[in-house]
Amino acid sequence: MIKDILPHDVAAAWVPGDAAPEPLPPEEEAALVRAVEKRRREFALGRLCARRAITALGRAPVPLPSGPSRAPVWPAGLVGSITHCAPYCAAAVADAALYWGVGIDAEPDEPLPPGVAEMVLTGTERAWIAAAAPIPSWDRLVFSAKEAVFKVWHPLTGAWLGFHDADLSVDPDRGVFTATLLRAPPQPQAAPLRRLCGRFLVRGKVIVTAIALPR
Ligand SMILES: CC(C)(COP(=O)(O)OP(=O)(O)OC[C@H]1O[C@@H](n2cnc3c(N)ncnc32)[C@H](O)[C@@H]1OP(=O)(O)O)[C@@H](O)C(=O)NCCC(=O)NCCS
Repeated sequence: MIKDILPHDVAAAWVPGDAAPEPLPPEEEAALVRAVEKRRREFALGRLCARRAITALGRAPVPLPSGPSRAPVWPAGLVGSITHCAPYCAAAVADAALYWGVGIDAEPDEPLPPGVAEMVLTGTERAWIAAAAPIPSWDRLVFSAKEAVFKVWHPLTGAWLGFHDADLSVDPDRGVFTATLLRAPPQPQAAPLRRLCGRFLVRGKVIVTAIALPR
């Protein structure tokens, strides 16, 4: 699923949420002190996918510790992203000489819980969602796309980005979305971060969204 919405030169791997995880190297265990079993499992499956994607790029699989912001620390020369939801875990990795960053996200295709939509959606988004067909859950899809935006934005800027700092539009027929950032990056950026374009796919009650920001 995730491979269908990424460029061919971005490596990706996925496993179902009930796949068997592999043992973690000690460098990664540090992120799991006091972690409950569910968290340990999703973390391990994300790392499994990430190592498969790194291998697919022709690089040696290595430990991927979590940085202070919780973002994975990718080996020099690579950028990437990890996501996990109950039925689906995935990772995508790209050559940093070709891409500024990658952001992926997976969510169940279900409406957002009551009260969450107001926190996540701008007025413009609420208006087009109200006029759109009820399937898929567009509110959840916008939420997912915004998390993919954050996974590109944050490693490049080190800055927070709130849900109301981006306005999402979608083209349902082409499976593409555009995020217009309503906030400038905190410092002048070489990376083009004002408009991020991505793709989405909905299959088997799972929504996946992906952004690969080319250099
Ligand atoms: C960080 C965040 C996006 C993760 O999304 P999520 O739906 O909770 O969880 P997912 O399973 O999809 O992704 C989790 C993975 O994201 C990655 N991640 C966490 N923090 C990250 C960061 N700052 N930058 C990049 N990737 C990050 C990690 O790999 C993490 O998995 P791991 O801890 O097992 O390694 C989310 O928790 C968050 O903080 N969102 C608020 C900010 C936001 O989305 N703003 C919208 C801007 S328009």
